[in-house]
Amino acid sequence: MDTTILVVEDEVVQLESIAGFLAKQGYRVLKSQRPQKALDIAAQEAVDIVLTDFRMPEMTGVELLSALKQRNPAVEVIIMTAFGSVESAIEAMKLGAADYITKPVDLHRLQTTIRNTIERNRLISENRLLKTQLSERFGFKGIVSQSSAMAQVMSIAGRVAATTATVLITGETGTGKELVAKALHYSSPRSGNPFVAVNCAALPETLLESELFGHEKGAFTGADKLRRGRFESAQGGTLFIDEVGEIPLSLQVKLLRVLQEKTFERVGSSAPQAADVRIVAATNRDLESMVRDGSFRADLYYRLNVVSIRIPPLRERRDDIPPLVDAFLKRFSGEYGKQVEGLSREAMDALMKYSYPGNVRELENIVQQSIVLSRSPVITREDLPYRVFDPCPECDTPEGQQGSFTEKVMAFEREMILGALEEAGNVQTRAAEILGISERHLRYKLKKYGMK
Ligand SMILES: Nc1ncnc2c1ncn2[C@@H]1O[C@H](COP(=O)(O)OP(=O)(O)OP(=O)(O)O)[C@@H](O)[C@H]1O
Ligand SMILES: [Mg+2]
Repeated sequence: MDTTILVVEDEVVQLESIAGFLAKQGYRVLKSQRPQKALDIAAQEAVDIVLTDFRMPEMTGVELLSALKQRNPAVEVIIMTAFGSVESAIEAMKLGAADYITKPVDLHRLQTTIRNTIERNRLISENRLLKTQLSERFGFKGIVSQSSAMAQVMSIAGRVAATTATVLITGETGTGKELVAKALHYSSPRSGNPFVAVNCAALPETLLESELFGHEKGAFTGADKLRRGRFESAQGGTLFIDEVGEIPLSLQVKLLRVLQEKTFERVGSSAPQAADVRIVAATNRDLESMVRDGSFRADLYYRLNVVSIRIPPLRERRDDIPPLVDAFLKRFSGEYGKQVEGLSREAMDALMKYSYPGNVRELENIVQQSIVLSRSPVITREDLPYRVFDPCPECDTPEGQQGSFTEKVMAFEREMILGALEEAGNVQTRAAEILGISERHLRYKLKKYGMK
C-alpha cells in the first residue's frame, strides 16, 4: 500500500497505539504530537491522509484542517473527537474534513474509515481522469477543421456549449452533426452527466414514444415492466435527438410539450416529471420546407431552432480535406498497425477534387479502405475507389448553373442507391446498411427519386 498517513495526537500513548496499528496494516505512517510540527511534515512529505485529534493545546483540529487544506486541497483529513463533542466534528466536515471518528478510537472502526476514505479518493481521481479523457476525445479538440466555414461552426458551437439553449444542427449525411452534438455536451457544465442519443429514424412510431418518455408497467400490451425513457436517462445531461425530421406528427406535439413545460410523463402515467435536459437535435432534411408542406409542426420547429448550426457539405469546404486525410491516416494506420507515410500527389489531387456525397464519413471510409488495401507506405491512385475519379460536378459547373450541379449530385445519389439495392438483392434493410443510412431515410430517398 502506498498511502501515507500522518497521525497527530498530543497524548503519546494514544499516538503510539494508533500509529503502530496503522503501520501493521501496511500504511506508511508519520507521527506528530504537535499540530505545528504536523504542518511542517505535511509541507515536506507527500501525505495522503491526516488523522488528527480535535482538542490539542496549540490549535484545534479544525484550525489544523484549514491550514492543511489551504496548502494542499487534495489532502484528506479525518478528525478524532471525544464522544461528547461530535457536533464540532460535524462542523469540521462542513469545512472539508473527509470523516470523523469518536474517541476512544475503536481500531476496527478506524480501519474501515481509512479504507473508505482511500476508496472514495480513488473513485474521485478516476472520475476526474475519465472526464478529461472524454472531453479530449469528444470535445471540440476531436473536430478536425481548417476552413473558414468550419471556423464559423466552431465559433457558434463554442459560444452556446456552456448554455442550456436548444440547438438544431443541420447538414447532409456524414458532415459531423453527431460529432458536434457530443462536443457541445462534453464542453458544457453538464459533461459530468449523461449524453444520451436517440435516433428517430431507427424506431417505429409506437416504440419511439416509450423510448423517449418511458412507460409504466401495464401501459400497453407487452409493457410488463416499468421502463425509463431517454428523457429520464439524460437527466442533468444532454439528449441528442437525431433525425428529428422523422418524428411523426403525433409525437411532435408531445415533444413540443416537453420543450415548453420542461416536464414529461411516462406512457400510461399522468404524473408529470421534471425534465432537466438540454436538447440538441439534428436533421439532414430541410425542416423549413417540411413546415411548409405540413409534415413538421411550425411551433416545434421554432422551439428546436433556438440556435441553429449548419454544417456545410465537405465539397463546400475543401480546405478541410488535407487535415482530415491526415487525421484519418494517423488513426487507421495505428489501428491496422501499418506504416503509412502519406498519399501520392495524384491520389491527393483526386481526393481534393471529389464531390463526397457522403461527406466526411465517406472520406473517412475512403482513407480507411485505402490503408487496408495499400501495399506500400505511400497510398497511390490505384488504392482509391473508382468513384473518386468521376469528374467533380461542382468543379466544371460555371457560376449561375447551380441547378445542374444539384442534378448531378442527385443523379449520383440515385446511382449509389441503385447500386446498393442491387448488391442487397433488393432487400431495403440491407441496402440501407450498405449506404450507411437508416431504412426510413432510404425509403424517403426512394420516394423522392420515384424509385420503387
Ligand atoms: N470535422 C471532423 N473531424 C473529424 N472527424 C469527423 C469530422 N466530421 C465528421 N467526422 C467523422 O465522420 C463520421 C460521420 O460523422 P457524424 O456521425 O457526426 O455525421 P452525421 O452528420 O451525424 O451523419 P448522419 O447524418 O449520417 O447521421 C464520424 O466518424 C465522425 O467522427
Ligand atoms: Mg448522425
